[in-house]
Amino acid sequence: MLTAIDLLNRKGRDVHSISPDATVFDALAVMAEKNIGALMVGEEGRFVGVFSERDYARKCVLCGKFSRETTVREIMSTSPVTITPETEIRACMSLMTQHQVRHLPVLDSGKLAGVLSIGDVVKCIIEDQDDSIGFLNRYIVGR
Ligand SMILES: NC(=O)c1ccc[n+]([C@@H]2O[C@H](COP(=O)([O-])OP(=O)(O)OC[C@H]3O[C@@H](n4cnc5c(N)ncnc54)[C@H](O)[C@@H]3O)[C@@H](O)[C@H]2O)c1
Repeated sequence: MLTAIDLLNRKGRDVHSISPDATVFDALAVMAEKNIGALMVGEEGRFVGVFSERDYARKCVLCGKFSRETTVREIMSTSPVTITPETEIRACMSLMTQHQVRHLPVLDSGKLAGVLSIGDVVKCIIEDQDDSIGFLNRYIVGR
């Protein structure tokens, strides 16, 4: 069964992060530049939360706050769902569905070791199923 570490080995372990004291505007600019939907929030070398497009929409825009006057700390999610390198990919999908999150920080001994998005997980599951179907086809036709 594939795990988070297998997927990180395929996609890379880059982590895009931002300080909690940055403005929401600056965070959105980084997300646009990197073309991603969430940033990990780090303070003094510690992982302290996740800032997502959903946080922006629901806790900034809909609350009448301005992105240049609001800090990431004010609206980030401070108790994000996390996984470890050993978490199975199907368990990642279940966690995302259950908690309605699209990004899972991967913590290795408490340190941020990568990020998996819902797109990463779905792509991985589809590729895994394609491999299984290919194997079964070859088995059935005897090649
Ligand atoms: N996931 C979402 O929140 C969301 C919302 C609306 C549309 N979409 C669209 O769906 C498609 C797939 O999106 P997705 O689910 O892969 O999410 P995504 O666009 O946030 O992620 C794209 C890639 O960047 C990586 N990534 C994301 N945030 C990161 C971070 N902080 N540090 C390091 N790597 C990071 C992901 O692992 C993934 O490989 C994209 O075209 C996206 O525009 C996604």
